[in-house]
Amino acid sequence: MKRSPNLTHPRRMLQALGGEAISPPPIWLMRQAGRYLPEYRATRTQAGGFLDLCYRPDLAAEVTLQPIRRYGFDAAILFADILIVPDALGRRVRFLEGEGPQLEPLRTRDDIARLDRKASAAKYAIIAETVQRLRQDLPSETTLIGFCGAPWTVATYMIGGAGSSDQAAARTFAYRDPEGFQQLIDVLVETSADYLAGQVAAGADALQIFDSWAGNLPEDEYRRWIIAPTKALMAALQARGVKCPVIGFPRGNPLHLDEYLAATGVAAIGCDTTVTLATMKSLAAKTTVQGNLDPLLLVAGGGRMDARIDELVGALRERPFVFNLGHGIVPETPPEHVARLVDRVRR
Ligand code: CP3
Repeated sequence: MKRSPNLTHPRRMLQALGGEAISPPPIWLMRQAGRYLPEYRATRTQAGGFLDLCYRPDLAAEVTLQPIRRYGFDAAILFADILIVPDALGRRVRFLEGEGPQLEPLRTRDDIARLDRKASAAKYAIIAETVQRLRQDLPSETTLIGFCGAPWTVATYMIGGAGSSDQAAARTFAYRDPEGFQQLIDVLVETSADYLAGQVAAGADALQIFDSWAGNLPEDEYRRWIIAPTKALMAALQARGVKCPVIGFPRGNPLHLDEYLAATGVAAIGCDTTVTLATMKSLAAKTTVQGNLDPLLLVAGGGRMDARIDELVGALRERPFVFNLGHGIVPETPPEHVARLVDRVRR
């Protein structure tokens, strides 16, 4: 229906991202490599720290492959993190056991001026090596997804120093000094484009931009800090010759999805758990949609989960659709519920 449909492509996920309705729909899950899998926990212990795991191409490739071996997902997502970018730019990033990430908070324009785009290349090269290994080791029918955090979401961690439910530090910074904040966004756009272009050159065949904290902005700020930077990142990718499909995932505000899609030109929209079936259907008349089973329904399992899986697959059967969760798998998820989900989608 759009964008050079390729009906003969052996990777079903890429067919769906090209705008085809595929039955059964391709499936992968955000955070499909992670603590709910005992084999992940074992490799993570072997690596030591979380960033040590991200910067070990052999081990990062191994944990990326673990869920593919278990479940045969249609896509693998590179194992890394959205906070690789601030780390590569020279900010201090730490992952404390059970507490989530902590960064040295960025306070001033001087801090922004000191971000070191040149130094980032060495760390991005390590991640690209993971991608290279994966492209060799993955089954040929498995799509390999590269990713980064969207500029806004990465900026919220850099300014706040940690995740927060309202992103107060970044929002206040952006109101007090919009030009300074724009300088930070500009650096993040360019460095993220370098990072993603490197992943594609190494063998990634689709990309996802995670805007996990897009939900709390008033409409003008949503345009300025979510839509405009994503559009700029898409243009920066094009300028670097990147042609692969990009999935946008602006989480937390379903009212802006049409505008986000029209302005950014992403190939697919990731839908969080709050997006209604009616909205997913209407978006899917224009583009590929991905989502949106509640990760907690995957923890609970049982008849409610089965019913919702059937409802999603049924509603989007004739449309370009990629089955996924509305947010990442949580550590409490029983691995056998994931097996049941995959079976049911493919039945
Ligand atoms: O399997 C995959 O999806 C690929 C790998 C991946 C990770 N993080 C691994 C990870 C991806 C795509 C991410 C994206 C990411 N990282 C996002 C965007 C998606 C989202 O969840 O909203 C965000 C906001 C981050 C930042 C981040 N990294 C947080 C907030 C945390 C702590 C929360 C937690 O679950 O512990 C991380 C750590 C992290 N990233 C883990 C994994 C598997 C767990 C760390 C561990 O092993 O101890």
